[in-house]
Amino acid sequence: MRHLMSPLDFTVEELDKVLDLAADIEANPKKYAHACDGKKIATLFYEPSTRTRLSFEAAMLNLGGSVLGFSSADSSSAAKGESVSDTIRVISCYADIAAMRHPKEGAPLVASLKSRIPVINAGDGGHQHPTQTLTDLMTIRSLKGRLDNITIGLCGDLKFGRTVHSLIEALVRYPNVKFVLISPEELRIPDYVREDVLGKNHQEFREVTRLEDAIPELDLLYMTRVQKERFFNEEDYVRMKDFYILDKQKMSLAKPDMIVLHPLPRVNEISTEVDDDPRAAYFKQVQYGVYVRMALILTLLEVEVC
Ligand code: NCD
Repeated sequence: MRHLMSPLDFTVEELDKVLDLAADIEANPKKYAHACDGKKIATLFYEPSTRTRLSFEAAMLNLGGSVLGFSSADSSSAAKGESVSDTIRVISCYADIAAMRHPKEGAPLVASLKSRIPVINAGDGGHQHPTQTLTDLMTIRSLKGRLDNITIGLCGDLKFGRTVHSLIEALVRYPNVKFVLISPEELRIPDYVREDVLGKNHQEFREVTRLEDAIPELDLLYMTRVQKERFFNEEDYVRMKDFYILDKQKMSLAKPDMIVLHPLPRVNEISTEVDDDPRAAYFKQVQYGVYVRMALILTLLEVEVC
């Protein structure tokens, strides 16, 4: 039985297979409409979410399966003090697969050790968010036609932004990917990502503060929100939150085919005036997220559709 805790749980070949399957689902959705008839996914969300939880639910419903779960720690037995290990043992009796989001780093991993069903990490604290990474990879591959030979700018809260940590881990495995890390001094990527992921892979990367300095060379710009809930004090958050605002004027400095991605939710970091720019791909990204989660559910449940 397999779980998904980090994008590295899949080899590049396995990832390619999941992305190929997601592309086939996009092209032939009817073929998959009953692939998971009678199966259930449990969405165990101890932290707020709209997209991720609903996209798992939509993915399972599109496959003919059904969903159960909770959307906040207050509405589950966690409020009574139950451990994630006990919760997953119970859920293993009710569902065939589970997606867990938790504010504590490593909680889904702890759950997976006691689970009788595949567990998907749907975001653990400021650590990892592998299914957003699958979504990002599918979006990049679909819109750019490749995952190698790209220059990607990651902009915003690179310290607490788990989507950025997971995406870097996944992309360092492809040839000739150049990273431009755009953040204020205080929100730079954690040392473990800089040293263990970028450094060890001898990856070309540059850290800059001004978005204007980086934007002209980028093939992709990945914007992120400042992660309010992970700040220790309100003052620091208020000082940082509008550090970057991507607007029409900054977009005029970018290549004509640069793509703008964002895991969402957006706060102020992309002005709504950019939404009509054909290079803005963040709402398309949401759609890819459903296909890729369908492909992941099929893969982990070992369901083959001919
Ligand atoms: C991201 C997350 O939860 O980390 N959202 C998402 O899953 N699409 C990004 C964020 O909350 O900023």
